Amino acid sequence: MQFSRFGRSLGGDTGIMDLMDDMGRALAGTEKKYMLGGGNPARIPEVEAVWRRRLQELLGEDGAVERMLGNYDTPQGQPAFIEALTALLNREFGWSLGPENVAITNGSQTAFFILLNMLSGPADDGGPPRRVLFPLLPEYIGYADQGLDPDCFVACRPTVERIDDHTHKYHIDFDAVEDTLREAGTGAAAPIAAICVSRPTNPSGNVLTDREMHRLDELARRYGVPLIIDNAYGMPFPHIVFDDVVSGPAQPMWNENIILGMSLSKIGLPGTRTGIIIGSREVVSTLSRANAVLSLANTTVGQVLVEPLLRDGTLLDVSQSVIRPFYRKKADDAHRWLAEAFGADVPFSLHRTEGSIFLWLWLPDLPVASRELYDRLKARNVIVVPGEYFFFGDPDLDTWDHSRQCMRINYGQSPEDVQTGLGIIADEVRRVWRR
Ligand SMILES: Cc1ncc(COP(=O)(O)O)c(C=O)c1O
Repeated sequence: MQFSRFGRSLGGDTGIMDLMDDMGRALAGTEKKYMLGGGNPARIPEVEAVWRRRLQELLGEDGAVERMLGNYDTPQGQPAFIEALTALLNREFGWSLGPENVAITNGSQTAFFILLNMLSGPADDGGPPRRVLFPLLPEYIGYADQGLDPDCFVACRPTVERIDDHTHKYHIDFDAVEDTLREAGTGAAAPIAAICVSRPTNPSGNVLTDREMHRLDELARRYGVPLIIDNAYGMPFPHIVFDDVVSGPAQPMWNENIILGMSLSKIGLPGTRTGIIIGSREVVSTLSRANAVLSLANTTVGQVLVEPLLRDGTLLDVSQSVIRPFYRKKADDAHRWLAEAFGADVPFSLHRTEGSIFLWLWLPDLPVASRELYDRLKARNVIVVPGEYFFFGDPDLDTWDHSRQCMRINYGQSPEDVQTGLGIIADEVRRVWRR
């Protein structure tokens, strides 16, 4: 069969497909696997009890289950959910959002697909194709293959701060970002359509500070492009931001030039596929129209489950008093176990984990590419994600060894699995060095 460019680009080999497929296959096998790969949130009994309680309430309420399952939602999302959400965000952060500022999608992954392609690619007025600028590599694997137009992403390398022998942190190289913006649209460099960052960053666990965000916001406005902020792990839910570790104040941020992505996945509801976009009226209405074409309507289950929890504050309480401390402890444990497993004989460095559910391991001078290390670990039933996938939008990656020396590790799984998995990773790295 002859596929179109669309078919080949979405249906070909993509990192995100490998990632999701590996996860599914590993779970389906009979051998014990250490699942430190994909982005599954942890199973947290206190949080799961909240979903059970809500399901029971719905079962006990006349007609509630039928309304939830038996109707198409509107392409923008359920008015009651949107109203509860805007009330919460306005109350918490002093914003003045109305219902026209919120669109729901079937997972925020879908929202990003629509948004990134809505902004980048061939221009409507016949002008040159436009690109999305990712100011801080490494960046979320899920964006890497979403652009329908080739070369519609451009990214900037970070500066790397070595905090101590085994800890580092990426910073935005603002000079490089500004150079990219300044040169765009002149000569051979295609114009920029938007700036996009995840905050907390998947994969590194970085949390960009308010200062850094204000600088990005100011640059975006100066160059007349929207700033997309992916808040999948951020505040007010799931609040996987470690306030005692971040490098400075890090409050959520929104204005008419910002497109803020949120999700119900990392509070523990990835199966409901509920993404949230907060944007200007124009962005929300275009996104909702695109959503109608692509999906007709959204899944209702997440919205119905969560709506009263937005209204009565339960979701904020659960995020702050259960989810955040749960991951905070797990991150500490994982750091300690990894340091013990590596010992002093193998060079390693972890990115400072300021938020998100991942450890980002850098193995300086690793004698093999992390893709090969990943295959070797998979053979030993440890599933991680090789770092290569998180470096995209840079045409000269061949010259950047760092992009082949990193690995993303999900630390949210059971303590036994994380500790054993980290032990196997350290052992395999040692074997690679001894070869
Ligand atoms: C940074 C980031 N953005 C977006 C997503 C997509 O999440 P979902 O489609 O489940 O809302 C993920 C999932 O792992 C993510 O890590």
